[in-house]
Amino acid sequence: MSQGRKAAERLANKTVLITGASAGIGKATALEYLEASNGDMKLVLAARRLEKLEELKKTIDQEFPNAKVHVAQLDITQAEKIKPFIENLPKEFKDIDILVNNAGKALGTDRVGEIATQDIQDVFDTNVTALINITQAVLPIFQAKNSGDIVNLGSVAGRDAYPTGSIYCASKFAVGAFTDSLRKELINTKIRVILIAPGLVETEFSLVRYRGNEEQAKNVYKDTTPLMADDVADLIVYATSRKQNTVIADTLIFPTNQASPHHIFRG
Ligand SMILES: NC(=O)c1ccc[n+]([C@@H]2O[C@H](COP(=O)([O-])OP(=O)(O)OC[C@H]3O[C@@H](n4cnc5c(N)ncnc54)[C@H](OP(=O)(O)O)[C@@H]3O)[C@@H](O)[C@H]2O)c1
Repeated sequence: MSQGRKAAERLANKTVLITGASAGIGKATALEYLEASNGDMKLVLAARRLEKLEELKKTIDQEFPNAKVHVAQLDITQAEKIKPFIENLPKEFKDIDILVNNAGKALGTDRVGEIATQDIQDVFDTNVTALINITQAVLPIFQAKNSGDIVNLGSVAGRDAYPTGSIYCASKFAVGAFTDSLRKELINTKIRVILIAPGLVETEFSLVRYRGNEEQAKNVYKDTTPLMADDVADLIVYATSRKQNTVIADTLIFPTNQASPHHIFRG
């Protein structure tokens, strides 16, 4: 049987929850799961921008008419909303099989001493605390059936800290540590814990980091061939469609011309 058919069989009828599905890697991951399963999956897509999620649902309904999609407005930094959100999912979407903790961001490039307290809190609330809260809310579902995949989006910034990125780097190191602890805690289960750590990916990430300044955001990718969101989505889908005896535990994914946060060939 071809690799693609095997992956489709393993993914068939599974339910995936993706945070930050309104853009970038999260959106691409939703579409990649449907490509890989021929639309034979159930997706729960969450983000703050409901209109973007509704647009995506429209596209999916046209391209994958057999797919089931539930879109939900959720600000993952509102900690008190996480548990009720998971508990009150519509019945056919409740039995989550794959959690993709994707939503995340960087804010600014300020040096230590000049970073706004609000930015520190916002980045940690989004990248770390929310990821932990969502994982804790979903884990009982996985423990009850002794299966499930947790995919956390780390970053090269969570392995190799760089100047002007201290808060983002610290948040992604925290994601890495949390992921490693969890994998060890779940050693006697069939729950797989997966860290995907991308390098440079062209998404809305830089636009958010530079607070809407398109020129600064564009410069990040200037004269490079960055990863695109679907390159990372492809890896997420690959990792979660392996045989049950295999966990793609921890993967660093760069564009070919990158070797660290600051080793990027521009030409
Ligand atoms: N792009 C890169 O170069 C890169 C590299 C390494 C790692 N990563 C990681 O990859 C992940 C995805 O980033 P991306 O590149 O796809 O960025 P993106 O295009 O900016 O997408 C980020 C997503 O997160 C959502 N989000 C942000 N804050 C949220 C909140 N409070 N509640 C709910 N959803 C929220 C956004 O949706 P709403 O605005 O609609 O809420 C959006 O859908 C992040 O964890 C990022 O750190 C990115």
